[in-house]
Amino acid sequence: MATRKGIALAAGAAAMVLMTACSSGGGGQTSGDSGASGGGATGEFEGRGPITYVQGKDNSGLMAPMLEDWNKDHPDEKVEMIELSAEADQQRNSMVQNAQTQSDAYCVISLDNIHVAEFAAHRWVEPLNEADFEKDKILPAVWQTGLYRDQLYAVPYASDGGILYYRKDLLEQAGVTDPPKTWDDMKKGCEAVRGLDGHSDIGCYGGQMAKYEGLTVNVDEAIHSAGGQIVSPEGEVVVDSPEALKGLQTLENAFKDNFIPEEALTYKEEEGRAAFESDRLVYYRNWPYQYSLTKEKLGDKFGVAPLPGLTADQPEGGMSSLGGHNVAISSFCKNKATAYDFIKWFTSEDIEKRLLTEQTLAPIYSALYDDQELIDQYPYLPALKGSIESAAPRPQVVNYGDVSAAIQDAVFPVLQGQATSEQAVKDLSAKLTELTSAQQ
Ligand code: GLC
Repeated sequence: MATRKGIALAAGAAAMVLMTACSSGGGGQTSGDSGASGGGATGEFEGRGPITYVQGKDNSGLMAPMLEDWNKDHPDEKVEMIELSAEADQQRNSMVQNAQTQSDAYCVISLDNIHVAEFAAHRWVEPLNEADFEKDKILPAVWQTGLYRDQLYAVPYASDGGILYYRKDLLEQAGVTDPPKTWDDMKKGCEAVRGLDGHSDIGCYGGQMAKYEGLTVNVDEAIHSAGGQIVSPEGEVVVDSPEALKGLQTLENAFKDNFIPEEALTYKEEEGRAAFESDRLVYYRNWPYQYSLTKEKLGDKFGVAPLPGLTADQPEGGMSSLGGHNVAISSFCKNKATAYDFIKWFTSEDIEKRLLTEQTLAPIYSALYDDQELIDQYPYLPALKGSIESAAPRPQVVNYGDVSAAIQDAVFPVLQGQATSEQAVKDLSAKLTELTSAQQ
């Protein structure tokens, strides 16, 4: 069997193959009629004045206050933050609509890395000059997420890797002191906690299982952790394989056995966090942003570990999907010169350090993961770096929204107990083959 690292690299290669196979059409616009002003690849933009910065829901509430520092130094080029939905799919819808109407309402946009290819292919965002950024200091897999056909379009400012949050307090009361390394360990730990007074029906494990992008992430992780892939390095749909089936069956059975509680079918990131913090879950898979928020609620009652391996022979852990967000300049923004300066400021090492220490977002700079003072304060940093470095990118296809929706449509009924994993991988294979060949 291929190594986990090998699979991650292969998946990255798959994304590249698909990316090159994609045409720039499909959204009713081609590069010529998009209104893009050009010149960005050299870093020369025009237009100064107020700008907007558009991102998904700010769970921390700390992003807007941080932007005030920029505003103090740039009184004539202030940035106003526009917050969109908490869901990646909805964020994309708003941004696509803004681009299709060629509106200048959104200027700097925070693109989920899965949407970079689509926005670049349609020329809804400006090409940027990579010489203006510190590429060599940035984790290579993270830098890669901002490129489309080898051209930089969106600079990463927050990476993301899945990590496991666990209720250290309850587990310790139940006599379990070691963090879990495998799903079996989690099963044992949860059984022990269920033996405690008042916790007999606590949920064991949760991830984001509601029908939205988070589900695609969790399914992709289960499939990769089982040694499978959804799409091969050659761009072929390979989800109809024994390994992918095993990954999906692990989730199917976990629901059947009530290891994952039924209410997890409604969890997006924040719903699951609420369950974890209110004693309804022993283990929860989420992104690092949760750390600062849970620290406020639970203090030292929780711990963080790498994602566990699906089976006992995987003590090295499970594989994360590569999450993250990148900033890009909308082609329809008026004050692009200001926007470009803002992006340089926003992705600087100083701001990255603040995004870590204030919001526990995952840094893009390698050095911040190795800084002992930061590790003392954020002990999960080495696990997070490992999670990101071995993470598998989701397919970076231009029609990613359709691909992800197909994954969600196929697997959600399985988790609800209304379809089998066997049928789902077959149906998904057919649907994805149709969708990926439509792009060639
Ligand atoms: C996080 C990740 C993003 C992912 C989303 C799914 O925001 O950074 O890449 O798509 O979660 O819910």
